[in-house]
Amino acid sequence: MQVRAEQITKTYPHANAPVVALSPISLTVAEGEFLIITGASGSGKSTLLKILGGLLAPSAGKVWVGKQEITHLTDTALTLFRRKSIGFIFQDFNLLPVLTALENVAFGLQLQDLPTRQAKEKARFWLAEVGLAGKEKSLPAQLSGGQQQRVAIARALAMCPQVLIADEPTSSLDAQNALQIAEILQKLQRETQTTLVMATHDTRLYPFADRLLELGEG
Ligand SMILES: Nc1ncnc2c1ncn2[C@@H]1O[C@H](COP(=O)(O)OP(=O)(O)OP(=O)(O)O)[C@@H](O)[C@H]1O
Ligand SMILES: [Mg+2]
Repeated sequence: MQVRAEQITKTYPHANAPVVALSPISLTVAEGEFLIITGASGSGKSTLLKILGGLLAPSAGKVWVGKQEITHLTDTALTLFRRKSIGFIFQDFNLLPVLTALENVAFGLQLQDLPTRQAKEKARFWLAEVGLAGKEKSLPAQLSGGQQQRVAIARALAMCPQVLIADEPTSSLDAQNALQIAEILQKLQRETQTTLVMATHDTRLYPFADRLLELGEG
């Protein structure tokens, strides 16, 4: 799916003066493209990703994900659309600590009404895809940071999102794990034609992207 933003802005209310997090920006991410968004801390990368993924409403402007214009959807319609089409990977993994790796991946599928057995089969497949065969029964606390992030990637990919949004997915990982995560994401993006938008400060990841976009101040 293509992702397109037209003249979006974001201003956060603040006690004295409103904070301009994003000045008007327009961009198009082609279907199957891997775009990396860079820029200094506070330049609005996370704000932009949240708006593109429908987690945050822009102050102005419009966003299309595929043919759907998402900024005027009701909350319920937006939640359903997001669940069906958009995957998120965050810096801090967001795994459920009491669930095993397999259960963490299967959980979202079960919420989508997939019967437990099929959800677990699918979860097993995606854990193997990210190199975690044999770790199905491990709890997050029993896995390394890199392995936990791979569980989070498997969880996102198991939903077969057409758009995958990743906010600093490697920033809590060491160099070797960071490169491995980038390789996995690039491989899957190429194989499945997923549109991948990633914010990162890590220059070593730049070569994996098809295109680089640098956000300026505000
Ligand atoms: N919920 C919020 N309320 C008020 N201001 C916010 C909020 N979220 C972000 N901001 C402000 O908006 C600006 C952009 O923040 P954002 O998190 O998008 O930057 P970023 O590029 O992701 O930074 P980093 O690299 O540190 O993650 C910053 O000035 C920040 O302080
Ligand atoms: Mg950020």
